[in-house]
Amino acid sequence: MKYIKIFSPGSVANVSCGFDVLGFCLDNIGDEMLISKTKAPGIRISKITGQDLPMEVKKNVAGVAAKAMLKYHPVKFGFEIEIHKKIKPGSGIGSSAASAAGVVFGINELIGKPFSNHELIRFAMEGEALASGSYHADNVAPVLMGGFTLVRSIKPIDVIKLPYPSELRAIVLHPKIELRTMHAREILKDKVSLEKAISQWGNLAAFISALYTKDFDLMSRSLVDEIVEPVRSLLIPEFETIKKAVIKEGALGFGISGSGPSVYALAKGSKNGNRIAYKMKSIINQLGIDFDIYISKINNQGIKIISD
Ligand code: HSE
Repeated sequence: MKYIKIFSPGSVANVSCGFDVLGFCLDNIGDEMLISKTKAPGIRISKITGQDLPMEVKKNVAGVAAKAMLKYHPVKFGFEIEIHKKIKPGSGIGSSAASAAGVVFGINELIGKPFSNHELIRFAMEGEALASGSYHADNVAPVLMGGFTLVRSIKPIDVIKLPYPSELRAIVLHPKIELRTMHAREILKDKVSLEKAISQWGNLAAFISALYTKDFDLMSRSLVDEIVEPVRSLLIPEFETIKKAVIKEGALGFGISGSGPSVYALAKGSKNGNRIAYKMKSIINQLGIDFDIYISKINNQGIKIISD
């Protein structure tokens, strides 16, 4: 194989109750990448469309992730990378994760798959660290493994793929304001009270149990975030108004997608999903903020190879 074209999807991290550990993969929004083998060794980013991002390897999340991988597994040839960005950086839908996970997935295919997708997470995470200033795998894990994932540990990487009911739909609203993950992390308090920690791990454990048992009521009771959401939601216009309205409309839960400004809701079935999306749209329209909205199934495959 001389080159590979891939679709690297967006993702929703945290999912309210699982800051830095829980995430799921989206179906219909993602970047495309073309990775080609070159005779000359090393990595070169030859083209980026859709966004204004650094072409310099050490400043680009894909470049950094690819370098981390090849340092661990040197090869005699090199790679040229084209990135066609559809996910906006600073949107909260895993833009950097799509680039970082996409490049390591693509190179792994081109060198005969020495790594499992689980093993690729650690290299992709190097790209995430460049973008956000700290290591977290809750976006790259669902992109590489598909579906819902739980990051038990990042040192060493230990990620569990979770089951989920097939009727589950995600609605993601991206108000077009930019919120850098680095900034959204800096504003968080570094201490959590025992009371809040107890509530958070109770909710996370219950949500995971609900994914296994397909218990939608329990899912709904567990999609709560008492630690991060109260701080970050202040940066998102009319967060509480939208939340109240979509919960009333029957959403299983509502929260910040990753570090924001995108917000997400989960719904049982497409009909509910469409109704909730309609509600979100009508509120954000009244605010006069430009937005994108996606209704997505949970993407169980993750990154896909695109054939010509
Ligand atoms: N868990 C990370 C955060 C995800 O919330 O900062 C960033 O997309």
